[in-house]
Amino acid sequence: MPPVPDGAPPDATERAAIAAALTRGAQRGRLLEILLEVRDAKGGVGISPAGLAAVAEHLRLFPSEAYEVATAFPAVNYAAATPYATEGCGDLVCGLLQGAPGAGVCRNRCDGARPAPVARTFADYRAAGGYGQLRRVMADPGAAARMLAQLSAHQAVGRAGVGFPVGEKWRQVMAAGGTPVVIVNGDEGDLAIFKDRFILETDPHGVLEAALVAARVTGADLVFLYVRDDYAPIHAIVRRALEEVAAAGLAEGIGLELRRSGGAFICGEETALIASLEGRAARPTERPPFPTTRGYLGRPTLLHNVETFYRLTAAWGGTPGSPASVLLDPQVRLFSVSGRVCAPGPKPVRGLSRLADLVEIAGGMQNGHALGGLVIGGSSGTLVGAADCRRPLADLLAEGLRLGTGGAIVFGADDEPRAIAARMAAYLARESCGQCGPCRIGTAHAARILAAPGPLDLPLLDDLATVMGEGSLCALGRNAGRFLGRLSLPGRGASA
Ligand SMILES: Cc1cc2nc3c(=O)[nH]c(=O)nc-3n(C[C@H](O)[C@H](O)[C@H](O)COP(=O)(O)O)c2cc1C
Ligand code: SF4
Repeated sequence: MPPVPDGAPPDATERAAIAAALTRGAQRGRLLEILLEVRDAKGGVGISPAGLAAVAEHLRLFPSEAYEVATAFPAVNYAAATPYATEGCGDLVCGLLQGAPGAGVCRNRCDGARPAPVARTFADYRAAGGYGQLRRVMADPGAAARMLAQLSAHQAVGRAGVGFPVGEKWRQVMAAGGTPVVIVNGDEGDLAIFKDRFILETDPHGVLEAALVAARVTGADLVFLYVRDDYAPIHAIVRRALEEVAAAGLAEGIGLELRRSGGAFICGEETALIASLEGRAARPTERPPFPTTRGYLGRPTLLHNVETFYRLTAAWGGTPGSPASVLLDPQVRLFSVSGRVCAPGPKPVRGLSRLADLVEIAGGMQNGHALGGLVIGGSSGTLVGAADCRRPLADLLAEGLRLGTGGAIVFGADDEPRAIAARMAAYLARESCGQCGPCRIGTAHAARILAAPGPLDLPLLDDLATVMGEGSLCALGRNAGRFLGRLSLPGRGASA
């Protein structure tokens, strides 16, 4: 148990770090960001109990409130003696496939060591027609209504996994009353998913223009870009883009803020994300009310995934010229391919006919390995065996396979599917925020069952799946149930 905040004064270095962070903004909503800024100023070592007490006093919070937030986010590294390091996916890709659990291999490097991509500049983006739509929406009051019609015509849907219609979400926000807030969700906390990173690091202005268009159309006065804490190079790219846009007068009357998430998968769940922006612990809340009607500080909130915003630019013709521009074609799907392939990375694919083709697209299997199968759709996705990977994808989709956010972890014929499932379950157990019993107990129990030697108790796993699916508040617990219920392991039939 980390020590509780106490009243002894922090040392001089920490005092200076706290003062600097508070100067940049001393509102409760910035609590997570303040704690991350102090951590960074201390070389990755988290704020001390004495420092936390000082921050709490300054923000007029009870020490217990500040403590709850500081201990809820791994990235704050509260009261730790050593610098923060992301845990990496000792859980799956690095741990299982590369045999390097916790060996400092960060889970957001599952796409291998690529040369750092170059972000399209503000000048190049504008030269290709960028920010034209934003100017039209700003200049012409009728453009907003046309924009909504365009979204419907394009059948734009959310890209975070569920596929909710974008136009419908915008209409709900506009009908709610009050001044809305727009949030770009770039938390990207799931295992081996790096599609949003690819978009933000190659074409940040495409995302920003779409978010600003959304703000103008819905009448929002505040836009948050919420980006995963360990995407440090992207923070620099986004900060610069925000400054450029503000300097060009394209965000007049709209507050633009970059905020970092707290290093937990649950930070990306929309209500938990909003809680973290309000200075509270990232724990999902019951819906309704949905964020569209009652979100950030009770205001109507339009929240979309990075890719969703980026693809909206296609509705007005897009801005060709960046590697991410291939996504302007609605038939192209962006996969995050990792695992035992020669060239892991973000792979935009048009018309994928079989999952096995992803392996070829990612450079083929690594030497000495034959295809064992794929984990599709992240930590609560589906284990698809090699035989099914070679069947038509359309058939698998018709049988209920979901591609989710396009994660595709390739494993070999020598990798044990049960061990992979155990690691997926262990990841979900670690990332459960713990407030619902079925999820907290069920994920941990499932991980234990899968990791234990001996025959697998499939009826018990099915029962756990049912309880978690029906008794969990958010999709982490509900999908953990689905993932277990679909498990294709020795003793059970086909995958997918
Ligand atoms: C545990 C959990 C983690 C999530 N993480 C993310 C994330 O990292 N990025 C994201 O866009 N959506 C994430 N979501 C989904 C969000 O709650 C929300 O539905 C989504 O951002 C809506 O975006 P869309 O309208 O573009 O589909 C997560 C959901 C859950 C349950
Ligand atoms: S389902 Fe799990 S992660 Fe979601 S709110 Fe409940 S305990 Fe937290």
